[in-house]
Amino acid sequence: RPVLASTRAELAAVLGAHRGVGRRVGLVPTMGALHEGHASLMRVARERVGDGPVVASVFVNPLQFGAGEDLDRYPRTLEDDLKVCEREGVDVVFAPSVDEMYPGGAGPDMTTVEPGALADILEGESRPGHFRGVLTVVAKLFGLVRPDVAVFGQKDYQQLALITRMAADLCLGIEVVGAETQREPDGLALSSRNRYLSAGERLAAAGLSRALRAAQDRASYGLPPARWAAMNVLADEPGIDIDYLALRAADLTELADYPEPGTEGRILIAARVGSTRLIDNMPLQF
Ligand code: PAJ
Repeated sequence: RPVLASTRAELAAVLGAHRGVGRRVGLVPTMGALHEGHASLMRVARERVGDGPVVASVFVNPLQFGAGEDLDRYPRTLEDDLKVCEREGVDVVFAPSVDEMYPGGAGPDMTTVEPGALADILEGESRPGHFRGVLTVVAKLFGLVRPDVAVFGQKDYQQLALITRMAADLCLGIEVVGAETQREPDGLALSSRNRYLSAGERLAAAGLSRALRAAQDRASYGLPPARWAAMNVLADEPGIDIDYLALRAADLTELADYPEPGTEGRILIAARVGSTRLIDNMPLQF
């Protein structure tokens, strides 16, 4: 069974017992409502640290939610989450309260991590301040756990890119690993938010990954044909309200319409299905 730590002091105490004996420490940050996507990150962390401790954090971070977002209705399922962690051989679950993470509240005097310009596009454009909230809480978790390796999902590709940059730019000495997106059999990327979908919306939502696959198949013809292929699939799904569909270089910078053959890219989508906002992305090979 994993040790449950809900305060910084408890976390420090259990980690102290593991540290010092030279074992590597792995961290998997989550907001809970754990599913097979999260479980796969725990397995990647386990592979990386061997018999060292794997720490999973479960914390719904208010700082990364904007006004009118789903902070209040975000699912909180700690009992079930602990079972997933136990099944995956996680050693420590850190599940702090908001007060424990932000003593005295997250007021204007608090230091935060200001991301670079990459945070202002795509998700950042739709969710101002979101990535500042993500990087700040991840930096705090890095400070509390001091992991050797931290594992994040490619599902949140821009988040992964920004955390990788933070670790490098701030010389944190932590290896950031990006793990493959886990999907339902029909291609829908696993997400805690999928539970909000009605049966009809759930069917429509599969159109997102089908659109990305169609673009993948056309990538060697260039950006406009790939984008057109994706839009063509989405045109058949009236239930999908696109927020953005972007074809970018792997580092999320802009690409020419016809990149050099061999160039690696990424296609990213955000869309509303009913009242639920979903995101997904896939690699492109030009
Ligand atoms: P959360 O949405 O709970 O996701 C936790 C981690 O699981 C992230 O790294 C995310 O990319 C990964 N993940 C989610 N769905 C996945 C899937 N289908 N396949 C593989 N990995 C998947 O992302 C956050 O929480 C927060 O922003 C956090 C980093 C914890 C900071 O608060």
